[in-house]
Amino acid sequence: MNKLLRILAIETSCDETAIAIIDGGEDKKHPRFLARSSIVSSQVAIHAQWGGVVPNIAKREHQKNLVPVLLQALQEAGLLKKEKRAQSLAKLTDDLAHILSREDELLQEFKNFLLSISVPDIDAIAVTQGPGLEPALWVGVNFARALSYVWAKPLVGINHMEGHVAVALLLKESEKNLRSPSPQATSYKLQVPSYPTLALLVSGGHTELVLIKKPFQYNVIGETRDDAAGEAFDKVAKILGLSYPGGPEISRLAQKGDAKAFAFPRPMISSPNLDFSFSGLKTSVLYSVQKLKEKKLLTAKMKRDIAASFQEAVVDTLVRKTLKAIQITKAESFILGGGVAANTTLRERLEKTISEANPKIKIYLPASSLTGDNALMIATAAYAKLLNNKPARAGGKILTQKSAKTLWKTMRPEANMRIGE
Ligand code: KG4
Ligand code: ZN
Repeated sequence: MNKLLRILAIETSCDETAIAIIDGGEDKKHPRFLARSSIVSSQVAIHAQWGGVVPNIAKREHQKNLVPVLLQALQEAGLLKKEKRAQSLAKLTDDLAHILSREDELLQEFKNFLLSISVPDIDAIAVTQGPGLEPALWVGVNFARALSYVWAKPLVGINHMEGHVAVALLLKESEKNLRSPSPQATSYKLQVPSYPTLALLVSGGHTELVLIKKPFQYNVIGETRDDAAGEAFDKVAKILGLSYPGGPEISRLAQKGDAKAFAFPRPMISSPNLDFSFSGLKTSVLYSVQKLKEKKLLTAKMKRDIAASFQEAVVDTLVRKTLKAIQITKAESFILGGGVAANTTLRERLEKTISEANPKIKIYLPASSLTGDNALMIATAAYAKLLNNKPARAGGKILTQKSAKTLWKTMRPEANMRIGE
C-alpha cells in the first residue's frame, strides 16, 4: 500500500453510534485496507427497557455518544493530536450553530472538545445517509456536515444497505501483512465477486433480494410486503416475553428446541414472485402462544420449541426464495448481509443448500462480528466508491468526488433511501 485513501466513517441510522477509520490502498485491481479503528457504542440496553428502538431516545443518545466515540476512534487510530484552535473558534461558531441547530447538546460538546484538537490527517468523511430512523440519521449527517466544515474535508453520503453488502466481501488478511499503527488495527482484502451476484439483505428494517449485475448497480427483485425478517424475530421474542433485540434471544432458545414441534406457515413460499411476508407467521405464533397460555401449558420447553419452529419457518422461507432467485438470475455468486446474518442456522442452511444446488457458486458471508450495524461497513462501501471514482449521492444530487467538497451545505438524510439510488 503506497498511496492511501484515509476515510473516517460515521453510522447512526438506528441504535448504534459507530465510527471507523480506514487506510485504503489505491490499487483498484487489489482493493485492500487497514482498519485503524472501529468503535461501536450500542444503545441496546437503553432501548430494551422500552421493548424496541425509540427514535427520539436514539437521537438523544447519538448526540451524547458521537464526540466520545470520535475521540476514541481517533485515539485508537493514532490520529488524535491536542491543539488549541481558539482564534478560529469565533469565525466558525455561527456556522456551526447553524449546522447543529437541532442538536443542542452535540453543539456544546463539539465546541468544548473538537476545536481543541488539530485537524486529523484524513481524506474524506463518509456518513450513512439512509435508510434508517430519521431523527437518528439527522444527528449523524449533521455531525458529519459539521466535521466536514470545520476540517474542510469532502463528505460522502452512503446507503446503509450498500454497507451491509460491502462488509460481506471483506476477508481478514494474515497477521504477516499487517503493519499496524495500533494493536486493534486489522488488515482486510475487499474481494471482488463474479457478476451477476445476488444479495440477500436481512435486517431489522429490510428483507430484500438484490440483483447486482455489475459493481454499484443494484436492482431489488424481491422484498417484504410487511414485516422485515429481523422485525419478525423481535416481535416473536416480545410475544415470548424475551428481551430486545429478539434475534439473538430466539436463536439462543432455538438451539435447544424442536424445530418440528410446531407447523408454522411459510407465507408466500409458493408465490411466483420473489417477495416475502412475515406478519402472518408472527400472528400464527401469537395465536399458538395465547392458546398455550390459556391452558397453562407455556412451559420453558414449549418456548424453546416455538422459538426453534419459528426460526425454522423464517430460515426455510429465506433459503427457498434465495434459491429461486439464483435460478432465475443465473447469479454466479451470493452475498448475505444485515443483522439477521448473525443467525447461525440461516448461515449454515444457506451455505449448504446453495452449494448443493449450484456447486460453482461462490458464497460470501459477513464475519459474525460485522453483521450488526457498525461504521466499518460504511467505510468499506465509501472506499469501494471513492476508489472507483463512483459518484456518491447526497442532497438529491449526484456528486462526484470533487463536488463532494462542498456537499456539507446541501446534504440531508433520506430515511427511505433505496439501495442503488
Ligand atoms: O442490521 P441491523 O443490526 O440493524 C438494522 O439495520 O436494522 O439488524 C438488526 C436486526 C434485529 O432485528 C435483530 O433482532 C436481528 O437483526 N438479529 C438477529 C440475530 N442477531 C440480530 N436475528 C436473528 N438471529 C440472530 N442471531
Ligand atoms: Zn443494518
